Amino acid sequence: MRLVVLSGAGISAESGIPTFRDALTGLWACFDAERLATEDAFRADPALVWGWYRWRAAMVAAAVPNAAHMDVAALADDGHALTVVTQNVDDLHERGGAREVLHLHGRLLASRCIGCGARVMPDPILAAPAPPEGGAREMPPTCVQCGQAFRPDVVWFGESLPSDAWDAAEAAVDACELLIVVGTSSLVWPAAGLPDRALRAGTPVLEINPHATPLTPRATAHWSLAATAGMARLRARLQTTDASHTAFFD
Ligand code: OAD
Repeated sequence: MRLVVLSGAGISAESGIPTFRDALTGLWACFDAERLATEDAFRADPALVWGWYRWRAAMVAAAVPNAAHMDVAALADDGHALTVVTQNVDDLHERGGAREVLHLHGRLLASRCIGCGARVMPDPILAAPAPPEGGAREMPPTCVQCGQAFRPDVVWFGESLPSDAWDAAEAAVDACELLIVVGTSSLVWPAAGLPDRALRAGTPVLEINPHATPLTPRATAHWSLAATAGMARLRARLQTTDASHTAFFD
């Protein structure tokens, strides 16, 4: 079967990575993630924003994929044609074994110069020393070529998605027979529009999320489960039940 998994921060929650809309902790407790994830915030206070991303990158580097990431990847081993489309900036899908992962919002474990776009190795976002528990303000390093600051290689609010990843995501959704939406609040566009695109084409959409989202009333089915339980159920269902039967979604 041709499958697309559209994932959000909730799939990495059971790996110990807070979701985007969870309250922040430590040094960041009085900030709102949506207000830190902008170019304006970076230009106004680069040490605050770079320090926040360094802290998040260290957390991701120390985390391990959970059973949901592995079950997503195993769908390809089960014989399905699988594309993973993720809003996540972590690399846990890849480390969980997924081969084709489209990152709509960039990557946390990479950075680039805001002036000339240069990338350096090893990447400064993971440089020693690791941020202390709770995080710390830290000035971003400057580029030896143009003197401007490094920024995380993620998509900030107000910025465009990488067009290659977006075009490939739309094509995969158009071609799939089942879209599985797991661990996303379905609040952020344009990613939140992909399930509607599938539904308009008559493709069933299964939402796996312990909480209801704006997608829930429109989805073909909503399984109110954590990602690990939901993906385990989905893999078992695909092995035993035809997805064209309504019983598949019960
Ligand atoms: P959010 O933090 O908005 O939503 C996380 C979702 O995961 C919520 O709907 C939770 O109910 C759900 N959730 C929590 N624990 C879960 C679990 N164990 N299993 C399954 N689901 C669980 O994260 P995203 O939807 O990914 O973009 O946020 C989308 C985008 O908003 C992010 O990529 C980020 C932010 O703006 C940018 O920074 C551009």
